[in-house]
Amino acid sequence: MRGLFVQGRSESEEMRILSGIQPSGKLHIGNYFGMMRPALELQNKGDAYLFIANYHALTSVADAAAMRQGTWDVALDFLACGLDPERTAFYRQSDLPEVHELAWLLSNVTPLGLLERCHSYKDKLAKGIAPNHGLLAYPVLMAADILIVQSNVVPVGKDQKQHVEVTRDVAIKFNNAFGETFTIPEPQISEDVAVVPGLDGQKMSKSYGNTIEIFGDPKATRKRFMGIVTDSKALEEPKDPEACNVFKLYKLFATPEQQADLAARYRAGGLGYGTAKKELADLFEAHFAPMRAKRAELAANPDYVENVLRQGAAKARALASETLRKARRAVGLE
Ligand code: ADP
Ligand code: TRP
Repeated sequence: MRGLFVQGRSESEEMRILSGIQPSGKLHIGNYFGMMRPALELQNKGDAYLFIANYHALTSVADAAAMRQGTWDVALDFLACGLDPERTAFYRQSDLPEVHELAWLLSNVTPLGLLERCHSYKDKLAKGIAPNHGLLAYPVLMAADILIVQSNVVPVGKDQKQHVEVTRDVAIKFNNAFGETFTIPEPQISEDVAVVPGLDGQKMSKSYGNTIEIFGDPKATRKRFMGIVTDSKALEEPKDPEACNVFKLYKLFATPEQQADLAARYRAGGLGYGTAKKELADLFEAHFAPMRAKRAELAANPDYVENVLRQGAAKARALASETLRKARRAVGLE
């Protein structure tokens, strides 16, 4: 008993968890289950840092008003969905300018080939985007985000795993060249998070226009649910729940009992897709209504939100300035 307690405590003391999210676009159900919820669950597992990656977003957002609005929206979304500022240092990346100085120090131990091999860079080139230095250097800035707070656990989606591997390589190179300076972080990939399907059954993604926003207008959102694509089986025909997009989304919100009940009604026949969609929309609304209310409250209290972000930045900055000092000394700037 005692051993377990000690083990549990030391584990949480050792975990310094950091992740970042880009402020690009309204959050949808796929983002919520795939990224937000896992990130929010981690705040109970250790010393947690979560930031809004607005410097990174500059690689794709070239509109100041959209940048400001997007950054603010993410802040409201996360606080509304349960981010606890007492547990998680929540901040804007741009409130931690130290990351840029560190990025420069790291640049000088980052082989160009390592950056040129990054999938996300290559994907952008393949899409015909004209590469600039920001796009190429993106992973170096990300390494600075991670290393500056000496985090050891970095929860990210599969698409970001390679960037955490670059961070590890760069940190090891720096440590080898200048002496032990950085903690080597581990990526934590949420393999168990299933892909959330969109209205048309493809992966829900803002680039496919098949999303349901978590904080969209309630009436319009209900209409979106009614537009989920299904097969054309008649009302009385038995239906396969597992092959149906409506049921796949329903499962995300329903208790096991509710899932079993709806599945049985699918199989029995006599259930129309319209009814299933309506029940799904009801569960969605029950899930997000309290968060929507909280979001409205937060939106009416910008000073509170601003204060949360500033305090988060102050906490992260205390660590960041210590790490930067260490790195400056290591390379001989001090
Ligand atoms: P989008 O595809 O809408 O552009 P992003 O690429 O900005 O979404 O994704 C942000 C985060 O949300 C990532 O961590 C990603 O893994 C997660 N995510 C996005 N869409 C889904 C989905 N349909 N199912 C599960 N997770 C998703
Ligand atoms: N590149 C990440 C994304 O697009 C966001 C990000 C920036 C990040 N810096 C980070 C994630 C540091 C984890 C750790 O999703």
